[in-house]
Formats: sequence, C-alpha cells, structure tokens
Amino acid sequence: MRKPMIAGNWKMHLNSSEASQLAAAIKNGLDPQLKHEVLIAPSFTNIESVRKEISSSPILLSAQNMCWEEKGAFTGEISPIQLKDAGCDYVIIGHSERRKIFSESDEVLNKKVKSALKNALKVIFCIGETLEERENQRTYKVLQTQLNGGLKDISVNELSNIVIAYEPVWAIGTGKTATPQQAQDAHIFVRKEIERMLGAQASQSVRILYGGSVKAENIDELMAQPDIDGALVGGESLKADKFLRVIHYQPVLSK
Ligand code: 13P
Repeated sequence: MRKPMIAGNWKMHLNSSEASQLAAAIKNGLDPQLKHEVLIAPSFTNIESVRKEISSSPILLSAQNMCWEEKGAFTGEISPIQLKDAGCDYVIIGHSERRKIFSESDEVLNKKVKSALKNALKVIFCIGETLEERENQRTYKVLQTQLNGGLKDISVNELSNIVIAYEPVWAIGTGKTATPQQAQDAHIFVRKEIERMLGAQASQSVRILYGGSVKAENIDELMAQPDIDGALVGGESLKADKFLRVIHYQPVLSK
C-alpha cells in the first residue's frame, strides 16, 4: 500500500509571519485521524518560522531546492547539511522552474538527488513535459530521459526515500489541469519505466504525485486514479481553506 501525500510548494511567496500563520492554519485544520502525509515547502528564509509552528504536528517540512555540495565556496547556495540542520525532512529537486529558468540539467539534478539522500533528506523528484513536447508526441520520451538522467545509479533502497512528482509544465500555474486520465496515463508510464530501471517491487511501491493546477475542485477526481498517489500543489496551497480541502480529498469514481 502506498501512503498518499499532499504537498504544498509555496514557491517564492510569503514573508516569515505570513508563512507561520499559514502553517498554523493548516496544522489547526488537519483532521487528527488523517492517515496520509502532508508536507509544506516554504522559502529558505521561512523554514525556521514554519518549523517552529509545525514541530508538534505530523506535517513534514521540505525545502524547494539545494546545492549538491555539502559545504565550501558556493556563494548564495544552501547545502543538504544546512537543510537537515534547519529541520527539513524533504527537498524538492528538479522542479520545472529550476530546469527551465535556472537551466538545471539532468546531470546536475542527479548530483543533487544523490547528495540529498546521502545527507538523510528525502526527495520529491519532479519531471514533466512542455506543451510543445506533448503536442509533438514526445511526452513519454521526455519523461524517460528525465527519469533515467535524474535517477541514474539510484538503488532500489534509495528509491524508497524518493517520491516522484509528475508535473506537466503546461499545467503549472495555468489553470489547465491534466485530465485525470491524462495524469493516470503518464503515471502508468512512469511506473513502467521505474520497473524497467529498478524492478517490479520498486515500481509498485514508489509514490507518484500529480502537480499542475491542482485545486479543491479537481483533487477528488485526480485521487480516484489508481496510480496517482498524491499531489504537489502550488497556488492552491497558499490559501489555508482551499489547501485543507485538497488535503482532505474524497476520491470519487471518475465518469
Ligand atoms: P500550481 O498548482 O500553481 O499550478 O503549481 C504546481 C507546481 O508547480 C507545484 O510544484
């Protein structure tokens, strides 16, 4: 059984008091019986205020990026050791905004994944195709390249500390969600590729989140898909009431 995860990526939003207020509202609104995992990823400067707010709750704390180096002359970077020390459980690696705006290659992302795991940080590893790639029928090829490159030389054991997030770039921040079937089809492909890379057991146990315009209004249908194990939520995770509705999704059978 794969434990579902609902993760909020706050991107470059909020000051420290806004971040701790939002974290408090999410914490206070959580159903105490909730069985799945909830994670929030604030900006580096808000990690401390959020950590204090959620320390007595089950909410997991994540960073949004890191350097692959552990320490040294890397001005402006943050190391996995520093993130661990700051109380992070997870780090997001390979978000499409990092790939596209900051030119992070599969090779660099692979170094980051390995360095995070070595330093006992779990990883949310993001992959996804652009609209152009989808329209040119290259979606699966792109996902395959990103998985093979980013997870190169990762063992089955290490994969148990990695969550994959499928985020089609055309659905991020656009209000255009993939249909539950489009998301399910991509997730099946990812699972098959993981099976080819690391075997059937790894493929059945790896969690695959969907991200891209996830909302209170569409989460129930998405979570009804058998291979969608959770969501990585951007804009909707900045509104406590909406994010709480996403967290407390009620899977329905899609029509
Ligand atoms: P939106 O939910 O705002 O589309 O962002 C998705 C995302 O990029 C999460 O990492």
